[in-house]
Amino acid sequence: MTQNPDRTVKNSLWHGRFSGKATNELQELNTSITFDIQMFQQDISGSRAHARMLAKIGVYEENDLESVLLALDQIEKEIDGGAIEILPTDEDVHTYIERRVTEITPAGARLHTGRSRNDQVATDLRLWTKEAVGEVVHLALSFQKTLLAKAEETEGAVLPGYTHLQQAQPVPLAHHLLAHGWAISRDIDRLLEARKRMDVSPLGAGAMAGSSLPLDASMVAKDLNFSKVFDNSIDAVSDRDFVADSLYALALLGIHLSRIGEEVILWSSTEFGYLELADGYSTGSSMMPQKKNPDIAELARGKSGRLIGNLTGFLATLKALPLAYNKDLQEDKEPLFDAVETISRILPAMEGMIRTANFRVDRMLEQSLSPYIAATDLAEWLVKRGIPFREAHATIGELVERSISEGKDFQSLVLEHQELGDEAIAIMKKESIFTSKVTHGSASLDKIGDQLRNFSKQISEDEKRL
Ligand code: ARG
Repeated sequence: MTQNPDRTVKNSLWHGRFSGKATNELQELNTSITFDIQMFQQDISGSRAHARMLAKIGVYEENDLESVLLALDQIEKEIDGGAIEILPTDEDVHTYIERRVTEITPAGARLHTGRSRNDQVATDLRLWTKEAVGEVVHLALSFQKTLLAKAEETEGAVLPGYTHLQQAQPVPLAHHLLAHGWAISRDIDRLLEARKRMDVSPLGAGAMAGSSLPLDASMVAKDLNFSKVFDNSIDAVSDRDFVADSLYALALLGIHLSRIGEEVILWSSTEFGYLELADGYSTGSSMMPQKKNPDIAELARGKSGRLIGNLTGFLATLKALPLAYNKDLQEDKEPLFDAVETISRILPAMEGMIRTANFRVDRMLEQSLSPYIAATDLAEWLVKRGIPFREAHATIGELVERSISEGKDFQSLVLEHQELGDEAIAIMKKESIFTSKVTHGSASLDKIGDQLRNFSKQISEDEKRL
Protein backbone atom coordinates (compact mmCIF):
# COMPACT_ATOMS: atom_id res chain seq x y z
CA MET A 1 0.00 0.00 0.00
CA THR A 2 1.58 3.35 -1.04
CA GLN A 3 0.35 6.88 -0.30
CA ASN A 4 0.29 9.55 -2.98
CA PRO A 5 -0.08 13.03 -1.41
CA ASP A 6 -0.45 14.95 -4.70
CA ARG A 7 -3.87 13.80 -5.90
CA THR A 8 -6.26 15.58 -3.57
CA VAL A 9 -9.33 17.89 -3.27
CA LYS A 10 -11.50 16.67 -6.17
CA ASN A 11 -11.22 13.16 -4.85
CA SER A 12 -12.88 13.94 -1.56
CA LEU A 13 -16.42 12.59 -1.10
CA TRP A 14 -17.74 16.00 -0.09
CA HIS A 15 -15.85 18.34 -2.47
CA GLY A 16 -19.06 20.10 -3.58
CA ARG A 17 -19.52 21.78 -0.23
CA PHE A 18 -15.81 22.36 0.49
CA SER A 19 -13.35 24.65 -1.22
CA GLY A 20 -10.57 24.35 1.37
CA LYS A 21 -8.25 21.37 1.30
CA ALA A 22 -8.16 18.89 4.18
CA THR A 23 -5.15 19.41 6.42
CA ASN A 24 -2.61 16.69 7.09
CA GLU A 25 -3.50 16.67 10.76
CA LEU A 26 -7.14 16.01 9.94
CA GLN A 27 -6.31 13.27 7.48
CA GLU A 28 -3.89 11.56 9.80
CA LEU A 29 -6.37 11.45 12.64
CA ASN A 30 -9.39 10.68 10.50
CA THR A 31 -8.03 7.88 8.38
CA SER A 32 -9.04 4.31 9.09
CA ILE A 33 -7.94 2.63 5.87
CA THR A 34 -4.82 1.19 7.51
CA PHE A 35 -7.04 -1.17 9.49
CA ASP A 36 -10.46 -1.19 7.78
CA ILE A 37 -8.89 -2.42 4.52
CA GLN A 38 -9.36 -5.80 6.25
CA MET A 39 -13.04 -5.47 5.35
CA PHE A 40 -12.47 -5.00 1.62
CA GLN A 41 -14.13 -8.30 0.79
CA GLN A 42 -17.23 -7.38 2.75
CA ASP A 43 -17.29 -3.87 1.28
CA ILE A 44 -17.12 -5.29 -2.23
CA SER A 45 -19.88 -7.81 -1.48
CA GLY A 46 -22.01 -4.98 -0.09
CA SER A 47 -21.41 -2.89 -3.21
CA ARG A 48 -22.30 -5.79 -5.49
CA ALA A 49 -25.59 -6.31 -3.65
CA HIS A 50 -26.35 -2.59 -3.59
CA ALA A 51 -25.58 -2.22 -7.33
CA ARG A 52 -27.84 -5.17 -8.23
CA MET A 53 -30.62 -3.61 -6.20
CA LEU A 54 -30.05 -0.24 -7.92
CA ALA A 55 -30.43 -2.01 -11.27
CA LYS A 56 -33.70 -3.56 -10.10
CA ILE A 57 -35.15 -0.16 -9.19
CA GLY A 58 -33.97 1.36 -12.46
CA VAL A 59 -30.93 3.40 -11.35
CA TYR A 60 -28.66 1.20 -13.48
CA GLU A 61 -29.14 -0.15 -17.00
CA GLU A 62 -27.98 -3.77 -17.41
CA ASN A 63 -24.72 -2.73 -19.11
CA ASP A 64 -23.88 -0.17 -16.40
CA LEU A 65 -24.49 -2.80 -13.72
CA GLU A 66 -22.23 -5.16 -15.65
CA SER A 67 -19.43 -2.57 -15.78
CA VAL A 68 -19.72 -1.87 -12.03
CA LEU A 69 -19.62 -5.57 -11.20
CA LEU A 70 -16.58 -6.04 -13.45
CA ALA A 71 -14.88 -3.07 -11.80
CA LEU A 72 -15.54 -4.59 -8.37
CA ASP A 73 -14.04 -7.90 -9.53
CA GLN A 74 -10.96 -6.05 -10.74
CA ILE A 75 -10.60 -4.11 -7.45
CA GLU A 76 -10.94 -7.33 -5.48
CA LYS A 77 -8.01 -8.78 -7.43
CA GLU A 78 -5.95 -5.61 -7.03
CA ILE A 79 -6.35 -5.55 -3.26
CA ASP A 80 -5.77 -9.29 -3.01
CA GLY A 81 -2.54 -8.81 -4.93
CA GLY A 82 -1.49 -6.04 -2.54
CA ALA A 83 -0.62 -3.55 -5.30
CA ILE A 84 -2.84 -0.64 -4.39
CA GLU A 85 -2.19 3.07 -4.27
CA ILE A 86 -3.82 4.93 -1.39
CA LEU A 87 -4.46 8.68 -1.65
CA PRO A 88 -4.63 10.87 1.44
CA THR A 89 -8.28 11.48 0.56
CA ASP A 90 -8.98 7.75 0.69
CA GLU A 91 -10.11 8.07 4.24
CA ASP A 92 -11.33 4.53 4.57
CA VAL A 93 -11.91 1.31 2.66
CA HIS A 94 -15.32 2.55 1.45
CA THR A 95 -13.88 5.77 0.01
CA TYR A 96 -11.05 3.88 -1.63
CA ILE A 97 -13.25 1.30 -3.32
CA GLU A 98 -15.77 3.86 -4.52
CA ARG A 99 -12.97 5.97 -6.00
CA ARG A 100 -11.52 3.00 -7.83
CA VAL A 101 -14.91 1.93 -9.23
CA THR A 102 -15.42 5.47 -10.51
CA GLU A 103 -11.97 5.55 -12.07
CA ILE A 104 -12.64 2.26 -13.85
CA THR A 105 -16.19 3.02 -15.05
CA PRO A 106 -18.27 6.23 -15.24
CA ALA A 107 -21.16 4.13 -13.88
CA GLY A 108 -19.29 4.23 -10.56
CA ALA A 109 -20.69 7.73 -10.04
CA ARG A 110 -24.14 6.22 -9.35
CA LEU A 111 -22.95 3.51 -6.95
CA HIS A 112 -23.48 5.55 -3.79
CA THR A 113 -27.11 6.30 -4.69
CA GLY A 114 -29.27 5.96 -1.58
CA ARG A 115 -26.30 4.75 0.43
CA SER A 116 -24.16 6.35 3.12
CA ARG A 117 -20.91 5.16 4.59
CA ASN A 118 -22.92 4.96 7.81
CA ASP A 119 -25.07 2.04 6.67
CA GLN A 120 -22.20 0.74 4.55
CA VAL A 121 -19.74 0.43 7.44
CA ALA A 122 -22.36 -1.09 9.72
CA THR A 123 -23.06 -3.69 7.01
CA ASP A 124 -19.40 -4.45 6.33
CA LEU A 125 -18.57 -4.88 9.99
CA ARG A 126 -21.54 -7.18 10.61
CA LEU A 127 -20.49 -9.35 7.67
CA TRP A 128 -16.89 -9.37 8.89
CA THR A 129 -17.87 -10.21 12.47
CA LYS A 130 -20.27 -13.00 11.47
CA GLU A 131 -17.45 -14.70 9.64
CA ALA A 132 -14.82 -14.04 12.30
CA VAL A 133 -17.04 -15.39 15.08
CA GLY A 134 -17.56 -18.58 13.05
CA GLU A 135 -13.81 -18.99 12.68
CA VAL A 136 -13.21 -18.49 16.42
CA VAL A 137 -15.90 -21.08 17.21
CA HIS A 138 -14.16 -23.46 14.84
CA LEU A 139 -10.87 -23.00 16.76
CA ALA A 140 -12.64 -23.35 20.11
CA LEU A 141 -14.24 -26.63 19.00
CA SER A 142 -10.88 -27.96 17.94
CA PHE A 143 -9.50 -27.00 21.36
CA GLN A 144 -12.35 -28.88 23.02
CA LYS A 145 -11.63 -32.00 20.98
CA THR A 146 -8.08 -31.93 22.30
CA LEU A 147 -9.34 -31.59 25.88
CA LEU A 148 -11.64 -34.54 25.24
CA ALA A 149 -8.84 -36.62 23.72
CA LYS A 150 -6.61 -35.85 26.70
CA ALA A 151 -9.40 -36.79 29.10
CA GLU A 152 -9.90 -40.09 27.26
CA GLU A 153 -6.18 -40.78 27.25
CA THR A 154 -5.91 -40.26 31.01
CA GLU A 155 -9.22 -41.87 31.90
CA GLY A 156 -8.10 -43.68 35.06
CA ALA A 157 -5.96 -40.82 36.43
CA VAL A 158 -6.83 -38.93 39.61
CA LEU A 159 -5.50 -35.82 41.27
CA PRO A 160 -6.46 -33.82 44.34
CA GLY A 161 -9.17 -31.32 43.56
CA TYR A 162 -8.51 -27.92 45.15
CA THR A 163 -10.49 -25.20 46.81
CA HIS A 164 -8.56 -22.11 47.93
CA LEU A 165 -5.65 -23.92 46.24
CA GLN A 166 -5.64 -26.31 49.21
CA GLN A 167 -6.17 -30.02 48.63
CA ALA A 168 -9.88 -30.70 48.91
CA GLN A 169 -11.20 -34.00 47.50
CA PRO A 170 -9.75 -36.42 44.97
CA VAL A 171 -11.11 -36.04 41.43
CA PRO A 172 -10.51 -37.83 38.14
CA LEU A 173 -8.18 -35.84 35.88
CA ALA A 174 -10.68 -36.27 33.04
CA HIS A 175 -13.40 -34.68 35.19
CA HIS A 176 -11.11 -31.72 35.89
CA LEU A 177 -10.13 -31.28 32.23
CA LEU A 178 -13.75 -31.40 31.13
CA ALA A 179 -14.66 -28.77 33.73
CA HIS A 180 -12.60 -26.41 31.57
CA GLY A 181 -14.23 -27.91 28.50
CA TRP A 182 -17.74 -27.07 29.72
CA ALA A 183 -16.75 -23.45 30.34
CA ILE A 184 -15.62 -23.25 26.73
CA SER A 185 -18.92 -24.79 25.60
CA ARG A 186 -20.66 -21.80 27.13
CA ASP A 187 -18.27 -19.48 25.26
CA ILE A 188 -19.20 -21.23 22.05
CA ASP A 189 -22.87 -20.81 22.87
CA ARG A 190 -22.34 -17.09 23.59
CA LEU A 191 -20.47 -16.59 20.32
CA LEU A 192 -23.11 -18.42 18.30
CA GLU A 193 -25.91 -16.49 20.01
CA ALA A 194 -24.08 -13.23 19.29
CA ARG A 195 -23.74 -14.29 15.67
CA LYS A 196 -27.46 -14.94 15.47
CA ARG A 197 -28.26 -11.54 16.97
CA MET A 198 -25.95 -9.66 14.59
CA ASP A 199 -27.50 -11.31 11.55
CA VAL A 200 -29.48 -8.18 10.57
CA SER A 201 -28.79 -6.07 7.49
CA PRO A 202 -28.50 -2.30 8.04
CA LEU A 203 -28.02 -1.49 4.35
CA GLY A 204 -30.77 0.83 3.12
CA ALA A 205 -30.81 2.94 6.29
CA GLY A 206 -28.71 5.54 4.45
CA ALA A 207 -27.10 8.20 6.61
CA MET A 208 -29.77 7.73 9.30
CA ALA A 209 -33.23 8.38 7.90
CA GLY A 210 -33.48 6.07 4.90
CA SER A 211 -33.96 7.42 1.39
CA SER A 212 -36.56 9.11 -0.82
CA LEU A 213 -35.63 6.60 -3.53
CA PRO A 214 -37.50 3.27 -3.63
CA LEU A 215 -34.60 1.15 -2.34
CA ASP A 216 -35.24 -2.53 -1.70
CA ALA A 217 -33.48 -3.29 1.59
CA SER A 218 -34.87 -6.83 1.74
CA MET A 219 -33.38 -7.73 -1.61
CA VAL A 220 -29.97 -6.49 -0.44
CA ALA A 221 -30.31 -8.37 2.87
CA LYS A 222 -31.08 -11.62 1.04
CA ASP A 223 -28.25 -11.10 -1.40
CA LEU A 224 -25.81 -10.64 1.51
CA ASN A 225 -27.14 -13.69 3.32
CA PHE A 226 -28.57 -11.77 6.27
CA SER A 227 -31.62 -13.39 7.86
CA LYS A 228 -33.32 -10.11 8.63
CA VAL A 229 -33.46 -6.48 7.64
CA PHE A 230 -33.33 -3.54 10.08
CA ASP A 231 -36.54 -2.18 11.59
CA ASN A 232 -35.44 1.37 12.32
CA SER A 233 -33.02 3.38 10.19
CA ILE A 234 -31.57 5.35 13.12
CA ASP A 235 -30.94 2.22 15.15
CA ALA A 236 -29.47 0.47 12.10
CA VAL A 237 -26.59 2.96 11.78
CA SER A 238 -26.10 3.54 15.53
CA ASP A 239 -26.15 -0.02 16.79
CA ARG A 240 -22.81 -1.57 17.70
CA ASP A 241 -24.22 -4.04 20.25
CA PHE A 242 -22.88 -6.82 18.09
CA VAL A 243 -19.35 -5.54 18.59
CA ALA A 244 -19.83 -5.34 22.36
CA ASP A 245 -21.46 -8.82 22.41
CA SER A 246 -18.54 -10.28 20.49
CA LEU A 247 -15.94 -8.51 22.62
CA TYR A 248 -17.60 -9.81 25.78
CA ALA A 249 -17.79 -13.37 24.48
CA LEU A 250 -14.14 -13.19 23.38
CA ALA A 251 -13.01 -11.66 26.68
CA LEU A 252 -14.73 -14.39 28.68
CA LEU A 253 -13.26 -17.06 26.42
CA GLY A 254 -9.87 -15.42 27.02
CA ILE A 255 -10.50 -15.47 30.76
CA HIS A 256 -11.32 -19.19 30.64
CA LEU A 257 -8.12 -19.81 28.73
CA SER A 258 -6.22 -17.77 31.31
CA ARG A 259 -7.56 -20.05 34.05
CA ILE A 260 -6.31 -23.10 32.15
CA GLY A 261 -3.04 -21.25 31.59
CA GLU A 262 -2.67 -20.52 35.29
CA GLU A 263 -3.09 -24.21 36.12
CA VAL A 264 -0.57 -25.25 33.51
CA ILE A 265 1.87 -22.77 35.07
CA LEU A 266 1.29 -24.17 38.55
CA TRP A 267 1.19 -27.79 37.50
CA SER A 268 4.41 -27.58 35.51
CA SER A 269 6.30 -26.12 38.48
CA THR A 270 8.76 -28.35 40.34
CA GLU A 271 6.58 -28.00 43.44
CA PHE A 272 3.47 -29.48 41.79
CA GLY A 273 5.20 -31.60 39.16
CA TYR A 274 1.87 -32.62 37.61
CA LEU A 275 2.89 -32.07 34.03
CA GLU A 276 5.78 -31.54 31.71
CA LEU A 277 5.45 -29.42 28.61
CA ALA A 278 6.83 -30.55 25.27
CA ASP A 279 9.93 -28.67 24.10
CA GLY A 280 8.09 -27.29 21.08
CA TYR A 281 5.54 -25.62 23.33
CA SER A 282 7.84 -24.17 25.98
CA THR A 283 10.81 -21.83 26.11
CA GLY A 284 14.17 -21.75 27.83
CA SER A 285 16.01 -19.07 29.76
CA SER A 286 18.79 -16.98 28.25
CA MET A 287 20.75 -17.26 31.50
CA MET A 288 19.55 -20.21 33.56
CA PRO A 289 20.31 -23.44 31.71
CA GLN A 290 17.93 -25.58 33.76
CA LYS A 291 14.77 -23.59 32.95
CA LYS A 292 11.78 -24.68 30.93
CA ASN A 293 9.15 -21.96 30.89
CA PRO A 294 5.41 -22.12 30.13
CA ASP A 295 5.31 -18.97 27.96
CA ILE A 296 2.17 -19.97 26.06
CA ALA A 297 0.22 -20.40 29.27
CA GLU A 298 1.57 -17.09 30.58
CA LEU A 299 0.62 -15.28 27.40
CA ALA A 300 -2.89 -16.76 27.58
CA ARG A 301 -3.05 -15.39 31.13
CA GLY A 302 -1.52 -12.03 30.16
CA LYS A 303 -3.46 -11.46 26.97
CA SER A 304 -6.78 -11.98 28.75
CA GLY A 305 -6.09 -8.51 30.20
CA ARG A 306 -5.88 -7.12 26.70
CA LEU A 307 -9.16 -8.80 25.74
CA ILE A 308 -10.88 -7.28 28.76
CA GLY A 309 -9.35 -3.91 27.81
CA ASN A 310 -10.78 -4.17 24.31
CA LEU A 311 -14.24 -4.74 25.78
CA THR A 312 -14.16 -2.06 28.47
CA GLY A 313 -12.50 0.48 26.17
CA PHE A 314 -15.17 0.00 23.57
CA LEU A 315 -18.02 0.15 26.10
CA ALA A 316 -16.59 3.48 27.23
CA THR A 317 -16.61 4.66 23.61
CA LEU A 318 -20.29 3.76 23.26
CA LYS A 319 -21.40 5.27 26.54
CA ALA A 320 -23.65 8.34 26.13
CA LEU A 321 -23.13 8.59 22.37
CA PRO A 322 -26.06 10.52 20.92
CA LEU A 323 -27.94 8.97 18.01
CA ALA A 324 -27.16 8.33 15.23
CA TYR A 325 -23.74 7.85 13.63
CA ASN A 326 -20.81 9.67 15.25
CA LYS A 327 -17.22 9.31 14.20
CA ASP A 328 -16.48 7.83 17.63
CA LEU A 329 -17.94 4.66 16.16
CA GLN A 330 -14.91 4.27 13.95
CA GLU A 331 -13.24 3.13 17.19
CA ASP A 332 -15.19 -0.13 17.00
CA LYS A 333 -12.91 -1.91 14.57
CA GLU A 334 -9.46 -1.94 16.13
CA PRO A 335 -10.49 -3.53 19.45
CA LEU A 336 -12.62 -6.08 17.62
CA PHE A 337 -9.95 -6.97 15.07
CA ASP A 338 -7.38 -7.18 17.84
CA ALA A 339 -9.58 -9.39 20.02
CA VAL A 340 -10.26 -11.80 17.16
CA GLU A 341 -6.59 -11.94 16.21
CA THR A 342 -5.47 -12.37 19.81
CA ILE A 343 -7.84 -15.24 20.58
CA SER A 344 -7.07 -16.85 17.22
CA ARG A 345 -3.42 -17.05 18.22
CA ILE A 346 -3.97 -18.19 21.78
CA LEU A 347 -6.36 -21.06 20.98
CA PRO A 348 -4.13 -23.12 18.65
CA ALA A 349 -1.06 -22.54 20.83
CA MET A 350 -2.90 -23.65 23.97
CA GLU A 351 -4.32 -26.61 22.08
CA GLY A 352 -0.89 -27.79 20.93
CA MET A 353 0.54 -27.26 24.39
CA ILE A 354 -2.14 -29.42 26.02
CA ARG A 355 -2.05 -32.08 23.30
CA THR A 356 1.69 -32.61 23.72
CA ALA A 357 1.93 -32.16 27.50
CA ASN A 358 2.95 -35.16 29.54
CA PHE A 359 0.64 -35.46 32.53
CA ARG A 360 2.49 -37.01 35.49
CA VAL A 361 -0.34 -39.21 36.68
CA ASP A 362 1.89 -41.05 39.17
CA ARG A 363 2.65 -37.80 40.97
CA MET A 364 -1.03 -36.80 40.91
CA LEU A 365 -2.01 -40.17 42.37
CA GLU A 366 0.56 -39.83 45.15
CA GLN A 367 -0.93 -36.46 46.14
CA SER A 368 -4.48 -37.82 45.89
CA LEU A 369 -3.68 -40.35 48.59
CA SER A 370 -2.67 -37.77 51.16
CA PRO A 371 -4.24 -38.83 54.51
CA TYR A 372 -6.79 -36.06 55.04
CA ILE A 373 -8.26 -36.04 51.55
CA ALA A 374 -10.93 -38.60 52.56
CA ALA A 375 -12.12 -36.46 55.49
CA THR A 376 -15.41 -35.46 53.82
CA ASP A 377 -16.16 -39.06 52.84
CA LEU A 378 -15.50 -40.13 56.45
CA ALA A 379 -17.95 -37.53 57.75
CA GLU A 380 -20.54 -38.73 55.22
CA TRP A 381 -19.88 -42.31 56.31
CA LEU A 382 -20.91 -41.27 59.84
CA VAL A 383 -24.00 -39.57 58.39
CA LYS A 384 -24.99 -42.90 56.82
CA ARG A 385 -24.89 -44.28 60.36
CA GLY A 386 -27.36 -41.71 61.58
CA ILE A 387 -25.00 -39.07 62.98
CA PRO A 388 -26.06 -35.47 62.20
CA PHE A 389 -23.63 -34.01 59.67
CA ARG A 390 -22.56 -31.12 61.90
CA GLU A 391 -21.51 -33.63 64.61
CA ALA A 392 -19.81 -35.90 62.10
CA HIS A 393 -17.88 -32.94 60.69
CA ALA A 394 -16.67 -32.05 64.19
CA THR A 395 -15.66 -35.64 64.99
CA ILE A 396 -13.49 -35.94 61.88
CA GLY A 397 -12.19 -32.39 62.31
CA GLU A 398 -11.02 -33.22 65.82
CA LEU A 399 -9.18 -36.29 64.52
CA VAL A 400 -7.43 -34.21 61.89
CA GLU A 401 -6.48 -31.68 64.54
CA ARG A 402 -5.07 -34.41 66.81
CA SER A 403 -3.20 -36.00 63.95
CA ILE A 404 -1.52 -32.70 63.17
CA SER A 405 -0.89 -31.44 66.69
CA GLU A 406 0.17 -34.78 68.18
CA GLY A 407 1.97 -35.91 65.03
CA LYS A 408 -0.14 -39.11 64.97
CA ASP A 409 -0.99 -41.14 61.87
CA PHE A 410 -4.51 -40.20 60.78
CA GLN A 411 -5.43 -43.74 59.70
CA SER A 412 -4.50 -45.15 63.11
CA LEU A 413 -6.66 -42.52 64.80
CA VAL A 414 -9.57 -43.48 62.55
CA LEU A 415 -9.01 -47.14 63.33
CA GLU A 416 -8.92 -46.53 67.08
CA HIS A 417 -11.99 -44.28 67.16
CA GLN A 418 -15.05 -46.03 68.61
CA GLU A 419 -17.51 -44.69 66.01
CA LEU A 420 -15.15 -45.34 63.06
CA GLY A 421 -12.75 -48.32 63.01
CA ASP A 422 -12.18 -50.95 60.30
CA GLU A 423 -15.13 -50.21 58.09
CA ALA A 424 -14.35 -46.52 58.02
CA ILE A 425 -10.72 -47.24 57.10
CA ALA A 426 -11.98 -49.21 54.11
CA ILE A 427 -13.50 -46.10 52.52
CA MET A 428 -10.12 -44.35 52.70
CA LYS A 429 -8.61 -47.00 50.42
CA LYS A 430 -7.67 -46.14 46.89
CA GLU A 431 -10.34 -48.45 45.39
CA SER A 432 -13.23 -46.71 47.14
CA ILE A 433 -12.05 -43.15 47.54
CA PHE A 434 -12.02 -42.49 43.78
CA THR A 435 -15.47 -43.95 43.19
CA SER A 436 -17.29 -42.84 46.32
CA LYS A 437 -19.30 -40.00 44.77
CA VAL A 438 -22.69 -41.08 43.50
CA THR A 439 -24.48 -37.80 42.76
CA HIS A 440 -25.27 -36.31 39.37
CA GLY A 441 -22.24 -34.93 37.53
CA SER A 442 -19.94 -35.81 40.41
CA ALA A 443 -16.22 -36.48 40.36
CA SER A 444 -15.99 -40.25 40.38
CA LEU A 445 -13.99 -42.64 38.25
CA ASP A 446 -17.24 -44.61 37.80
CA LYS A 447 -18.84 -41.62 36.13
CA ILE A 448 -16.08 -40.71 33.68
CA GLY A 449 -17.76 -42.66 30.88
CA ASP A 450 -20.86 -40.44 31.22
CA GLN A 451 -18.73 -37.30 31.39
CA LEU A 452 -16.88 -38.18 28.21
CA ARG A 453 -20.08 -39.13 26.37
CA ASN A 454 -22.00 -36.00 27.37
CA PHE A 455 -19.15 -33.70 26.49
CA SER A 456 -18.59 -35.37 23.16
CA LYS A 457 -22.32 -35.01 22.41
CA GLN A 458 -22.14 -31.30 23.21
CA ILE A 459 -19.24 -30.87 20.77
CA SER A 460 -21.23 -32.60 18.00
CA GLU A 461 -24.28 -30.42 18.65
CA ASP A 462 -22.21 -27.24 18.56
CA GLU A 463 -20.55 -28.36 15.36
CA LYS A 464 -23.97 -28.63 13.76
CA ARG A 465 -24.87 -25.12 14.91
CA LEU A 466 -21.73 -23.79 13.26
N1 ARG B 1 -14.63 5.02 8.46
C1 ARG B 1 -15.91 5.24 9.05
C2 ARG B 1 -16.14 4.30 10.22
O1 ARG B 1 -15.42 3.37 10.33
C3 ARG B 1 -16.97 5.02 8.03
C4 ARG B 1 -18.20 5.79 8.26
C5 ARG B 1 -17.94 7.22 8.02
N2 ARG B 1 -19.13 7.98 8.11
C6 ARG B 1 -19.14 9.31 8.23
N3 ARG B 1 -20.26 9.87 8.33
N4 ARG B 1 -18.03 9.99 8.30
O2 ARG B 1 -17.02 4.47 11.01
